[in-house]
Amino acid sequence: MITLFKDKRILLGVTGSIACYKTVDLASKLTQAGAQVDVIMTEAAGRFVTPLSFQSVTGRPVYDDMWRREHVQHVGLGETADLFIIAPATAHTMAKLAQGLADNLLTVTALAAHCPLLIAPAMDGGMYEHPATQANVATLKQRGVTFAGPSTGRMASGLSGLGRMLEPDALLAQARLVLARSGVLAGTKVVVSAGPTREAIDPVRFISNRSTGKQGLAVAQAALDAGAEVTLVLGPVAESPPHGVNLVRVESTEQMAQAVLTAVANADALFMVAAVADFRPGKLSERKLKKTEANDWGLAIGLEVTLDILSTVKEQREKTGFPRVSLGFAAETHDAYEYGRAKLLRKGLNFIAVNDVMAEGAGFAVDTNRVILLSSAGVVEEMPLLSKTAVAERLVHHVAKALS
Ligand code: CTP
Repeated sequence: MITLFKDKRILLGVTGSIACYKTVDLASKLTQAGAQVDVIMTEAAGRFVTPLSFQSVTGRPVYDDMWRREHVQHVGLGETADLFIIAPATAHTMAKLAQGLADNLLTVTALAAHCPLLIAPAMDGGMYEHPATQANVATLKQRGVTFAGPSTGRMASGLSGLGRMLEPDALLAQARLVLARSGVLAGTKVVVSAGPTREAIDPVRFISNRSTGKQGLAVAQAALDAGAEVTLVLGPVAESPPHGVNLVRVESTEQMAQAVLTAVANADALFMVAAVADFRPGKLSERKLKKTEANDWGLAIGLEVTLDILSTVKEQREKTGFPRVSLGFAAETHDAYEYGRAKLLRKGLNFIAVNDVMAEGAGFAVDTNRVILLSSAGVVEEMPLLSKTAVAERLVHHVAKALS
C-alpha cells in the first residue's frame, strides 16, 4: 500500500496495441497500491486482452462500450477521477485527443474529465517520430498533458526504435509524480541528505558507518509524494533513489557539505538525515598502506573531526534566510532526549528527530524506526514504532505545517 494512492480514483484508458498486456500488470499494481481503478477499453484493445483480465486484477467492472450502458456515464467517470492514464495510447487515439474527437467511451471521457491526464504512447515502425504524431504530442503537452515514454527498444514488428510503452513500474512511478502535484509541499524546494559518508584512509580503504540510507530515502519519497521538488544528496548506499529526485551522489563529508550548501541556497526545507562520518584520517595516504608498515602494536591512524555540515548550514542561513525550515536527526545510544535537545540548539534547527539507535526495531538497516520529534518548544510528537515510510510521512507533515 502506498499512502498517496490510497482511495485515489484512477481511470485507466486502454487502446489497441500489443503493449496492452503490460497494462494488466499496471492495473494490478495500481490496485495493490490502494487505488480504485476503473478501466475503459477501446474495441481494438479488446482484441489484445479481454475485459475479464482487467476485471480480475481491479475487482471492478470494465467499461468497454459507450452505447451499451447509460450514455452519461462518461461524465461521471471523468468527474470523480483523480488521474486519467491512457496506456497504451496509440497514434490514432493521440490524434483524436489532440483534435478533441469523441467517438468512443475513452475519448468522450477524456474530453469530459477535469483531472490530470498521463499518456503512455506505444507504436511501431517510426510512427511516433512522424511529424503528424509529434505535432499531436506537442499540442497535448501544451494543454498540460504529461507524457511517460515511449522508450527505445525492440518492437512487435521486430524493428528496433522509439515507440515501446514504458514498463509498469516506470508508469507507476510517473503516475505517483503526477498525483503528488496537489500535495501539501507543491511548489516548494526540499533538500534531503541520506546515507553514510566515507572518509578515505588510502586509495582502497575508508572509515564509514552502518547507515543504509533507508530513512533518508523514505523522507525523499515522502517529500516527492507531497509534491515537493526534491534534491537528494546521497552517500554510498545499495538501495536505489526514488524516481523523480534531482540526485547528487557524494562520497566524503566534504563533498556532502558542498552539495548540501549549494542545494539549500534557495530551498524551503532541509532534512539532514545522513549519518555523516564524524571522523576522518588526519592525513590521506596516497599509496595503499602495506602490512609491513605496521609494528607490533598495529598501525595507528590519527583521526580528526570532520566539518559539521549543519553548523555550516546554520551560518549560511543566518545570512540568507535559506533554508526556511531545517530538520536534523540525532542518532543516540543513550540519554536520547537530552542530547537531542542540545543538538537542536547547537545546530540551529527547527526540528530534530531523535532516535535511540539501540532501541528494538530502530536504527540502521531495519525498516522500522522509533522517533521523538523535538522543536525548541519541546516535544512535537513522540512516535510509536513505525515503518520508516510512516516516520518520513509524519516528519514531512510537520515540516509542511511549519512552512505554511
Ligand atoms: N551532522 C552534520 N555534520 C556532521 C555530523 C552530523 O551535519 N559532521 C548532522 C547529521 O546529519 C544529523 C545531525 O547532524 O542531522 C546530528 O548527527 P549526530 O551524528 O547525531 O550528531 P553529531 O553532530 O555527530 O554529535 P555527537 O557526536 O555528539 O553525537
